[in-house]
Amino acid sequence: MTKLGVNIDHVATVRQARRGIEPEPVWAAAVAELAGADGITVHLREDRRHIQDRDVELLRRTVQCKLNLEMAVAEEIVGIALELGPDQATLVPEKREEVTTEGGLDVLGAGDALASAVERLKAAGVQVNLFIDPVAAQIQGSADIGADGVELHTGQYALASGEEAGERLGELAAGAALAANLGLCVAAGHGLNYLNVMPVTALPQVEELNIGHSIISRAIFSGLERAIREMKDLILEADRSVEKEPG
Ligand code: PXP
Repeated sequence: MTKLGVNIDHVATVRQARRGIEPEPVWAAAVAELAGADGITVHLREDRRHIQDRDVELLRRTVQCKLNLEMAVAEEIVGIALELGPDQATLVPEKREEVTTEGGLDVLGAGDALASAVERLKAAGVQVNLFIDPVAAQIQGSADIGADGVELHTGQYALASGEEAGERLGELAAGAALAANLGLCVAAGHGLNYLNVMPVTALPQVEELNIGHSIISRAIFSGLERAIREMKDLILEADRSVEKEPG
């Protein structure tokens, strides 16, 4: 079964618009779990534009499913992650001026800081995934550096339409197959929504999807629980269509 990690950063974005106490990301995580989320994903950005330190502390104490911390390879954030002990860390590139994470990590050009972060997080018992584009050299580099898994960046696929979407999906399929062959866990995410999620889910090696913006956007109109259930239903339907093992 493909697992759904619900990214609740956007709940914090709304709260930070007023720098107040609502909406509360911890409540969002609780509703998400009750609605069937398999994981809660948050990105503690260096600029703290949405998720705050107190959020990750409270989430660590309250989330009962998988807590996945998206994070830059920055010493301050690595230190917080080591103290916090999320179930999983997804290492992402981070630029201050970007609206959201734009591209995958350059594993090959990342140098010692990345290798050291992977090693220390793994030693602390944290599963470490690297958020990368579906490019063979980056996938091989992720295995070489000792990551447990990769999260394949689906942003280009999500932006494409028609034939190009098919090509992008082909890249994701090849990337997922290579990663699994190298013994890496395979997650995928970024830009996935109710219209484009099924073909990615149907890739046999994809074990986990991390989805935020589309779910929180739908939740404004239909409520978070329903938005998550509807996404889970599509994932289950795609799983059934390719007879993915129930997990
Ligand atoms: N995965 C990673 C690594 C991300 O950085 C993000 C965005 O925070 C997501 C998944 C979720 O993307 P979206 O909000 O477009 O669903």
